[in-house]
Amino acid sequence: MSVSNLKVAVIGANGKVGRFLLTQLKNDTKHFSTPLAVVRSKEQQNFFKNEFGINASLTSIEHSSVKELAAALKGYDAVVFTAGAGGKGLERIFTVDLDGCVKTVEACEQLGIKRLIVVSAIKAEDRSFWWNMEGLRDYYIAKRAADHDVRNSKLDYTILQPGFLQEGKGTGLVQPLDRIEEKKDSYKIEREDVASAIVQCLLHPETTSRKTIELANGDQPIETFIKSL
Ligand SMILES: NC(=O)c1ccc[n+]([C@@H]2O[C@H](COP(=O)([O-])OP(=O)(O)OC[C@H]3O[C@@H](n4cnc5c(N)ncnc54)[C@H](OP(=O)(O)O)[C@@H]3O)[C@@H](O)[C@H]2O)c1
Repeated sequence: MSVSNLKVAVIGANGKVGRFLLTQLKNDTKHFSTPLAVVRSKEQQNFFKNEFGINASLTSIEHSSVKELAAALKGYDAVVFTAGAGGKGLERIFTVDLDGCVKTVEACEQLGIKRLIVVSAIKAEDRSFWWNMEGLRDYYIAKRAADHDVRNSKLDYTILQPGFLQEGKGTGLVQPLDRIEEKKDSYKIEREDVASAIVQCLLHPETTSRKTIELANGDQPIETFIKSL
């Protein structure tokens, strides 16, 4: 299946992964139409519209209803959820990481948008991995519950579960899943590589739909990795 003119909406667009992703989507005019940045302030909306040169919707996933969110996403073919409360504040973790994701699923279902990519976190399913992690238990409870809601939907979802996000330049490489345990002492990945993996998922729904995929730095080109799933 070949993808062309795909219209992608990005929730969490102003975040670090979101900005890398929108740069890649904007530059790949062979496969993608002008993307939509879903942001939560007027300044961010102005930036994406006037300086970045793409579409932008001022829609806080925390404060908007599913109907309002659906109105923002209408007309798009695929949605990426990469928003987050930054791991802090129980209420915001609930309303952004958990209910923001759940509302996104509901909005996609209302609109008939089948394709949803969600950025979760590594080993979200495995309580023994995160239960005793300083300051991260609430965050992981929310991520795990959001993942379950996504999996229980009828959407063509892909849940990406990256390791701890790094600021460095993208390597273009990730760890094959049959060797991911080699990284267990410290799962890490550059944010730019997460963005590249999202793009490859959008380009290859045939290998990534209805799957949960762990991401860590490694030695396999991201495109090869995604195509081999
Ligand atoms: N940090 C890690 O090591 C790690 C590891 C695995 C997975 N993750 C996940 O990876 C994802 C992306 O990470 P990142 O580094 O790009 O995070 P980030 O830079 O904090 O970006 C998150 C974005 O979500 C936006 N957001 C927050 N509340 C919102 C709301 N109510 N409505 C709309 N947007 C809202 C933020 O807006 P503002 O720009 O206005 O703040 C921000 O732009 C997150 O889901 C995170 O949980 C992180």
